[in-house]
Amino acid sequence: MDIQTLTAAVRNIPDFPIKGIQFKDITTLFQSAEYLRGLSDILYDRYKDKGITKVAGIESRGFFMGPATAIRLYAGFVPIRKFGKLPYKTIEEKYSKEYGEDIIQIHKDALNENDIVLLHDDLLATGGTMAAAYRLVKKLGVKKIYINFLIELEKLNGRALFNDDVEIDSILKFE
Ligand code: PRP
Ligand code: MG
Repeated sequence: MDIQTLTAAVRNIPDFPIKGIQFKDITTLFQSAEYLRGLSDILYDRYKDKGITKVAGIESRGFFMGPATAIRLYAGFVPIRKFGKLPYKTIEEKYSKEYGEDIIQIHKDALNENDIVLLHDDLLATGGTMAAAYRLVKKLGVKKIYINFLIELEKLNGRALFNDDVEIDSILKFE
């Protein structure tokens, strides 16, 4: 499946959820069996030789392809959730959203020093969400972290929040 076809399958919704935002709607890609398999194949190919032991997905849109990718890589899946949703002992990180602050959490025993982690979310915009998730996963002392997004909004330069030593990859790139 070529990247151009998948890129064209993403629907642009102007002024959602608020005026001025061009929302990238991935449901139009997901609803096609062919495109969904194509996307999954690309993810599998990119990470199959990295020795990934766990995929960590960020609630909620990181829960679409996160578990699907974990199954293909024969890795476990770990949810990173918004505050108050995880039932066991957690660690947390704060981050700034457009209006105020948000908190994400992970179970403290979800990852350890033997894990090679693929940290996944659907979208890189400002990078605030992923930067917080990265700090969270780092705190658990894992062996290595790869970062993956389905979509990167290049103009917002969210990559600038990360050091060069972390491998960041996005599949579909938009302005
Ligand atoms: C969206 C998106 C990413 C994040 C990207 O999630 O799914 O997780 O924003 O933005 P950033 O790079 O500026 O941090 P959102 O918090 O809207 O929630 P959702 O996934 O539950 O829809
Ligand atoms: Mg999200």
